[in-house]
Amino acid sequence: MGQLDGKTAVVTGGTSGIGLATARRFREEGARVYITGRNKDTLDKAITEIGGTVTGIQADSANLTDLDRLYTTIADAGHHIDVLFANAGGGTFATLEQVTEEH
Ligand SMILES: NC(=O)c1ccc[n+]([C@@H]2O[C@H](COP(=O)([O-])OP(=O)(O)OC[C@H]3O[C@@H](n4cnc5c(N)ncnc54)[C@H](OP(=O)(O)O)[C@@H]3O)[C@@H](O)[C@H]2O)c1
Repeated sequence: MGQLDGKTAVVTGGTSGIGLATARRFREEGARVYITGRNKDTLDKAITEIGGTVTGIQADSANLTDLDRLYTTIADAGHHIDVLFANAGGGTFATLEQVTEEH
């Protein structure tokens, strides 16, 4: 029996790195997993890689309309969010001297 049997877990930015590894682990623990990401191809690849009960929703966490659609999609499927990992994001490492206004 998994620690998340019957639970619904959402991992934003679940197509790569920490989010992908977390989504895989949540699924192994029995959760129904939703992952998000902005890139459709990466999303499809991650769904195949994770396997099992995982649903991909193309959504930008910086876009409120996308976030509303994410919650509506889950609710319309008759589920509610038990676990939310707000992981989406990114960045680069730089020394203070290398930091630009764009960073
Ligand atoms: N790795 C580290 O050492 C480290 C250290 C401190 C904090 N963090 C934080 O931990 C989180 C994960 O890091 P990581 O290294 O695993 O990153 P990663 O491999 O670059 O993965 C980032 C994930 O977030 C998604 N994403 C990025 N911006 C998004 C947005 N606006 N809306 C939805 N999805 C978005 C990406 O997919 P798309 O590009 O397709 O959207 C991808 O699935 C990030 O928030 C990062 O800032 C990481």
